[in-house]
Amino acid sequence: MTEQVVPVDERGWQELDDAQLERWLRETDPRLLQKLWEAADRTRRAYVGDEVHCRGLVELSSHCRRGCLYCGLAVSNRGLERYRMSDEDVLACAERMRRAGCGSIVLQGGEDPCLDTDRVSTLVRRIKTTTELAVTLSLGEREPEELWSWRQAGADRYLLRFETSEADLYAMLHPPFAPGALSRLALLEVLRRTGYEVGSGVMVGLPGQSYRSLVRDLRLFRELDLDMIGLGPFIPHPATPLGGLIPRAGDVPGDATMTCKLYALARLLCPFSNLPSTTALGTLDPAEGRELGLRRGANVLMPNFTPPAFRERYRIYPGKTDGSTIPLTREGLETWLGERGRKLGTGPGSRRRRG
Ligand code: 5AD
Repeated sequence: MTEQVVPVDERGWQELDDAQLERWLRETDPRLLQKLWEAADRTRRAYVGDEVHCRGLVELSSHCRRGCLYCGLAVSNRGLERYRMSDEDVLACAERMRRAGCGSIVLQGGEDPCLDTDRVSTLVRRIKTTTELAVTLSLGEREPEELWSWRQAGADRYLLRFETSEADLYAMLHPPFAPGALSRLALLEVLRRTGYEVGSGVMVGLPGQSYRSLVRDLRLFRELDLDMIGLGPFIPHPATPLGGLIPRAGDVPGDATMTCKLYALARLLCPFSNLPSTTALGTLDPAEGRELGLRRGANVLMPNFTPPAFRERYRIYPGKTDGSTIPLTREGLETWLGERGRKLGTGPGSRRRRG
């Protein structure tokens, strides 16, 4: 294997070649990994500071027309009791987020045909007229015209992970909905042209995922100049086709350390991007996961404001925590962050381009 290179400065990290990045993904020596964590944390502080921006998450519908092999909301999962929240319920969540000091709201849902152009436009307008929150949509693959209408209604950001840059693996995991539909990468381009801040990302530890493809994922984050990078471990869901797969020797582990390596390298390669410490990392390691993410490159939290009765049913993967270790009040968040040497961000927390 290539010899491990420990760059002396930020520039050096940005100039690592593919083999050297792969070497870091495979690194197991705790003393060397400590160098990686420290470099990512330094870069995070220098470029995006100590503020942690909180995005309030609301999971507004668990209906989905898609059949992604990894996801518990897939249409094939007949055992899942589905729900849709009313606009009033969503607005009540928005108000709680505002009071808790969140600068933005993330409306996330399955690809639910009832979340159509008008319904979402109306909801976005209502949120924008009643709060100062930036609005992020995470509603799957949609028509360019729809994305345009929602942007006109005031939506600021859109999250659409490309899940893996390994084309064959992606195609296997992700049956297309309609022939000729735009690929996720093409949609990311549409989102950019439509004027959204664009977020994307991948799962770590998918069956058949290679280290090399994770290096390509990292390169793609930079090429796409992503404003937000969402990274989480793959957590098998028993009611999906990937639920019972037994990991093979040599597979990339979808564990907290591997996920953190990606956080750290993503921060080093894309120093200005907003990088959440995700729920999936908090699910793998409820005691410490989110905190580890924040110490290893992340600068964003997404506390979940979905009412508990719905939240339990939004089961993308098992054990999905309700973020119970993350408080949902301003005082609670300020204390939680203060104890970790960080502070609650103010304002919408848009992507910065300068330090
Ligand atoms: N484990 C971890 N993350 C998952 N997602 C979907 N299914 C799983 C799973 N089993 C992630 C995908 C999707 C995001 C909303 O949730 O990356 O884009």
